[in-house]
Amino acid sequence: MSVEFISAINVNAANEINGVSDFRLDPVYLKRYSRILEDGGFDYTLVPYGSPGHDPFTIAAAVTQYTERIKPIIALRPNTIYPTVAAKALATLDQLSNGRAVVHFIAGGSDVEQAREGDRLNKTERYARQEEYIQILRKVWSNTERFDHKGTYYSFEDFVSVVRPVNGTIPISVGGSSDDAYRVGGALGDIFGLWGEPLKETQEQIDRIAEQSRLAGRTDTPRTWVTFRPIIAPTEELAWEKAHNTLSILQERASGGAGKGSLWRQVPTGSTPANVGSQRLLNIAAGGDLHDRALWTPTATATGAQGASTALVGTPETVAAAILDYVDLGADLISIRGYDNLNDAVDYGRYVIPLVKEELAHRERTGQKGSLQSEHLGGLAEGSVALAEASVRS
Ligand SMILES: Cc1cc2nc3c(=O)[nH]c(=O)nc-3n(C[C@H](O)[C@H](O)[C@H](O)COP(=O)(O)O)c2cc1C
Repeated sequence: MSVEFISAINVNAANEINGVSDFRLDPVYLKRYSRILEDGGFDYTLVPYGSPGHDPFTIAAAVTQYTERIKPIIALRPNTIYPTVAAKALATLDQLSNGRAVVHFIAGGSDVEQAREGDRLNKTERYARQEEYIQILRKVWSNTERFDHKGTYYSFEDFVSVVRPVNGTIPISVGGSSDDAYRVGGALGDIFGLWGEPLKETQEQIDRIAEQSRLAGRTDTPRTWVTFRPIIAPTEELAWEKAHNTLSILQERASGGAGKGSLWRQVPTGSTPANVGSQRLLNIAAGGDLHDRALWTPTATATGAQGASTALVGTPETVAAAILDYVDLGADLISIRGYDNLNDAVDYGRYVIPLVKEELAHRERTGQKGSLQSEHLGGLAEGSVALAEASVRS
């Protein structure tokens, strides 16, 4: 079983905890960040989409010219670009990067955020449009003859594109946790993106998606992508201290502080999110702070769970063992991005990714699990839990 790692690109030094409010694209920073991800062993980087932010296609093109291997995952909202145009833009990026383009579909969790760019469909309609959109992309990439399309959301005639993906197609990812997301992603996705939930809930989601693949007549299922915000340090004690410091800053920012968090917020913190993915995380967080080996959820509560917001807390060994617990569920795409983005990306590349890859290589060689997961690491170890509770009180 091999595993691939995903990060998320940043175009400047602004992040959720440093309060930097200069959001201009910094080409020097973007180049350095892209190379740090590639040198650190990341295989992909998400180029997220939010109504106030930079254009993902431009950023992805730049990332592919600053690097040799890393694949940009373009987050795409169907309401922002016509499907034939998107098909050609993705295939153009794929040719420019010699086959590195990936697209992640965003149905859009919030009607408010969608309306900011003129989208008036409700979420169920947005998923139905996304389904038709994906079918059009694949037609544009494969059809060599002119064709007409007459659908519910799109219709056009006599169209053909000469811009083809390097490998004939481009991997398509779908994210979300609603029934509509499972249906569309299970039927059409090469990849299915999930936010970091406890192992049991993650297994349930993987099973729901597989069921939809089966119902769609597929014999395969999408690859599983799970997303975390690891908070690591050389000792459990230091990691929990860092986690609580990070949480205090997120809570302070959420209560109206300046910085990146507030600008990208899709709905006011404290209001019930419309998307199921965020609702699930908040429910899980309400059920307890620490889950399984190291999954910590107060960071989700602090940010309204608007996006990837659950942490894995501990030493690199603890976090690597926790990641392997998800790999054992079948998740072979692991997204890890920190709150102190650039520095955390460096640390993950140095300390976490190698541990996970070493363990998997060990299994490959010996057919047996190594020691990493058997050790009482992280939340299971009395010491760390006690320390966490102690520091909360103090
Ligand atoms: C891994 C992952 C990445 C996502 N990236 C974005 C993003 O960049 N921009 C965005 O608006 N929504 C993003 N989303 C949100 C969803 O794609 C989704 O449209 C929304 O949450 C609705 O989901 P629901 O089906 O859970 O209700 C992401 C979701 C996942 C799981």
